[in-house]
Amino acid sequence: MSTLGVDLVEEILALKKKRNAVILAHNYQVKEIQEVADFVGDSLGLSIQASNTTADVIAFCGVHFMSETAKILNPSKKVILPDLDAGCSLSDSCPAEALEAFLNKNTDKNYYVIAYINCSAGVKALSDVICTSGNAVRIVKRAPEGRNILFVPDQNLGQWVMEQTGREMELWKGSCYVHVEFTRQSIQKIREEYPHAPVVAHPECTAAVRLLADEVCSTERMIGYCKNHSGEAFIIVTESGMLHRLRREMPDKTFIPGPTDVCACADCRFMKRNTLQKLRDALFSLEPAIELPEQIRARAEIPMRRMLEWSA
Ligand code: 13P
Ligand code: SF4
Repeated sequence: MSTLGVDLVEEILALKKKRNAVILAHNYQVKEIQEVADFVGDSLGLSIQASNTTADVIAFCGVHFMSETAKILNPSKKVILPDLDAGCSLSDSCPAEALEAFLNKNTDKNYYVIAYINCSAGVKALSDVICTSGNAVRIVKRAPEGRNILFVPDQNLGQWVMEQTGREMELWKGSCYVHVEFTRQSIQKIREEYPHAPVVAHPECTAAVRLLADEVCSTERMIGYCKNHSGEAFIIVTESGMLHRLRREMPDKTFIPGPTDVCACADCRFMKRNTLQKLRDALFSLEPAIELPEQIRARAEIPMRRMLEWSA
């Protein structure tokens, strides 16, 4: 790491101590951030960490909906996000106003709304229970029988959960712009190059890509799958930050990025907005901080707590 990098890390660690802060980072963050974080994980692991922390400040290195989730669970704590423009195309595909209008138009359906955590606090506030890619199958299995389920906002994850559980659900037509860039052709091509490497794909990928995968799972489960597998090389079909986490935990194994039709690997432009400099600045100024109207926060906490209870 450059001298500047070392200085920055030292500054971050000193500020973290001064602020009594915890640094939580998603698996898709740049490697410098993963290395300075107290915890690196998937959305489920990060939510559990956020619900248990005793820190006064949560520095959330991920995207906006993730830091909002931390705030929903910790109204009295300061939650900071290094770059407020770290959004999410999937979350944006389901605005709270559109979901509310849809529910109002279809009151006869009396929907049970299951929201993938990649959504705004406003959408969570309209939902019955939240899920992540790590617990979606378990959560959907526990949804009350006889109710019409509306699954928002990711149609690909929703479709995969229907296949896994056999439960019928209506799916909101949202998707992640990163995961839908992987195609059947791009994955087939890399598979021909590495015929012995199992293909591990995230459930936000399309059905055509999931069908080619040896394993479909959340980012955290990718770690366990590759650790327990006797294979030496794996094709990883998700955002590029995951490769750093895998290589760090399993230096003796080889991880090949799943390519798209145009790129050798896939970066999420939102996840990559956070940098070490911005993390240092945020810990220094305690800005940008996440604020939520209390009515929305309190309503959104109900399905979040339900998810944590059902995942325990
Ligand atoms: P998980 O890390 O929970 O599998 O989610 C992936 C994702 O797309 C987060 O934005
Ligand atoms: Fe959103 Fe996709 Fe980026 Fe995850 S990878 S933050 S789902 S746009």
